[in-house]
Amino acid sequence: MTTKSLDAPHDIRDLALADEGRRRTEWAERSMPVLRQIRARFAAERPLAGRRIACCLHVTTETANLMITLRAAGAEVALCASNPLSTQDDVAAHLVRDHGVHVYAIKGEDHETYYTHIAQALAFGPDLTQDDGADLVGSLHMIKLGRLGDLSGPVRAMVEEMSAEEREALVAGVRGSTEETTTGVIRLKAMAVEGVLQFPVIAVNDSRTKHMFDNRYGTGQSTLDGIIRATNMLVAGSTIVVAGYGWCGRGLAMRARGAGARVIVTEVEPVAALEARMDGFDVMPMAEAAPLGDLFCTLTGNLHVIRPEHFRAMKDGAIVCNSGHFNVELDIAGLEVLASDKREVRRFIDEYVVEGRRVLVLAEGRLINLAAAEGHPASVMDMSFANQALAAEYLIAHEATLERAVHRLPPEVDQEIARLKLAAMGVGIDTLTDEQVTYLASWDAGT
Ligand SMILES: NC(=O)c1ccc[n+]([C@@H]2O[C@H](COP(=O)([O-])OP(=O)(O)OC[C@H]3O[C@@H](n4cnc5c(N)ncnc54)[C@H](O)[C@@H]3O)[C@@H](O)[C@H]2O)c1
Repeated sequence: MTTKSLDAPHDIRDLALADEGRRRTEWAERSMPVLRQIRARFAAERPLAGRRIACCLHVTTETANLMITLRAAGAEVALCASNPLSTQDDVAAHLVRDHGVHVYAIKGEDHETYYTHIAQALAFGPDLTQDDGADLVGSLHMIKLGRLGDLSGPVRAMVEEMSAEEREALVAGVRGSTEETTTGVIRLKAMAVEGVLQFPVIAVNDSRTKHMFDNRYGTGQSTLDGIIRATNMLVAGSTIVVAGYGWCGRGLAMRARGAGARVIVTEVEPVAALEARMDGFDVMPMAEAAPLGDLFCTLTGNLHVIRPEHFRAMKDGAIVCNSGHFNVELDIAGLEVLASDKREVRRFIDEYVVEGRRVLVLAEGRLINLAAAEGHPASVMDMSFANQALAAEYLIAHEATLERAVHRLPPEVDQEIARLKLAAMGVGIDTLTDEQVTYLASWDAGT
């Protein structure tokens, strides 16, 4: 294996960490058979030859495997973090040194650095972007719409130095984008409704082989993993309050129950709440759950789901965290006002004193599974990133015809990914007989 640096431009913690990053990336690769097969085809067909892709994703070992796949397809790639806490510094070093990826990401980077890195990824001049939460695409649209006041400082500073033509060219150069997560898709659909979306987007999250597996099984397991790593708490016998019973919430509720917790679900949507009840969970408003929970986790994609009135009602030692995309689900600013004291009591744990009782907030309310653990297992990211890789190929192949809208990948692509995964797992399934095909297409065969 080469250790000669490809010397890609970068702003990372330490290039000397590259060996460890390479070992861990190779370990993840073992559990990513679908992406491996796509990479082999890409290396032969080079569908992204000469393309420039800017990615704003969690910088993990699984993402590294996606980056290597895009490189195999012939693309130049720049990568910045989609969360200030989720970067694995050794992985960043490996990608720079061994794969020539331009990486701008440092674990624990402050707000200013986070957006400086986004500006650097944009300055790369991409044809395509890949987002996890729509921060890159959002910035591009603010530039296009001239809403420079809405850009964060570093991005605004970069744009202010550009001429009007250069700004126009930056946005016009982007042929399309892919989006990884629920929250990003919601933002992009809002742009499409407002009529401001500038290029086609593939909502990777909307593929069944993404949200039914990554959001449910990936988030379910890795969120519990992050909570345990941060706190070393015993799950059995505890009361865990899960806010939101969407794909992610279902996953966490299922895993927490499996580990022996009593699980309470809070919801705002009646069908989801009913499903949670039918699945055997207690369902109640957050105001009623607040005094009961030993641990609270939000997975809603919504703002201020746990607020000061809830913090005030919690018992001494209650633990609160978030696994939704943005750190907006816990009203930390409200808690700061309420608290008489705050101190860090353990890595990733801030203790707030609220009316004499202690409330413990994990990872500043950021995604706990990425901040305190390693994110999703590679085998589930295998499917998510197979979708990302095929979405990039699809966008380039259809760039002349795709409308400026949020698209799903065609169902055949979803099914192909599932087929490859099943084959890798050694699972066979039945196929429809001709008679069944005819029956399913008919309307006149009754009782
Ligand atoms: N931690 C991770 O690794 C990870 C992985 C995938 C998605 N996500 C993020 O997790 C969040 C949820 O994703 P999802 O796919 O489960 O979305 P989803 O739309 O399937 O589910 C969200 C649920 O939250 C409910 N909800 C909204 N506001 C609420 C409130 N105030 N109180 C209680 N419930 C409320 C909604 O009714 C919905 O049922 C998103 O921000 C998504 O981007 C995180």
